[in-house]
Amino acid sequence: MSGPVIAVDGPSAAGKGTLARALAAALGLPYLDTGLLYRAVARKLQEEGGDPTAAEAAADAARRLQPADLARDDLRAASMDRAASQVAALGEVRAALLGFQRDFAARAGAVLDGRDIGTVIFPEATLKLFVTASPEERALRRWRERVARGEPVTLAAVAADLAERDARDAARAAAPLRPAADAVVIDTTHLDAPAALAAAMAIAARRLGGSQLLTSPA
Ligand code: CDP
Repeated sequence: MSGPVIAVDGPSAAGKGTLARALAAALGLPYLDTGLLYRAVARKLQEEGGDPTAAEAAADAARRLQPADLARDDLRAASMDRAASQVAALGEVRAALLGFQRDFAARAGAVLDGRDIGTVIFPEATLKLFVTASPEERALRRWRERVARGEPVTLAAVAADLAERDARDAARAAAPLRPAADAVVIDTTHLDAPAALAAAMAIAARRLGGSQLLTSPA
């Protein structure tokens, strides 16, 4: 591993994307939102009329993924949430996306956020964070995001959708959502984004003495 690899895993709407992006900026590391990979596979399949639960077609779409597929601006639409979590439950799809994620961090290290970065993709990561928050707080955050984007949705519907996806992510056989044994848990229920970043930087300094994180790779 050339640069530090920081794994930021956790359930939906726990604040891991915000935290991972801020950590990457603070440490000068590349950042990868791995949820976008699963969303892009689901989108490609949908466009081609494929079934998000059919393993071979989904794995084929994953193998054909191009940078332009990840740059689309419709991947975070609520309509992609369920299909993304369905393709993500397929071991064949996860295997097809493994190399891309490892290669992303190979040159300079990276901060990656997802569900299985610390358990499967980088079991040897420099630092593993597991970001969580209460289900009520996560539903409220996701609901506020949707309302701000002008999407008419009820809090109850958002909460039900998150619960369904959490259950699928945690129960699947392929890379289920769980903290790595050596992950440090950050509960953001009562932390805003700057406070969560401060907590993560303090953990990094304590765990790694700062030097491994702040020294640029040769
Ligand atoms: O932001 P949100 O949590 O709603 O979604 P996301 O992080 O973009 O992930 C979408 C779906 O992809 C999740 O429901 C997971 O099922 C799946 N996923 C995964 O299985 N492994 C990852 N490393 C990232 C996402």
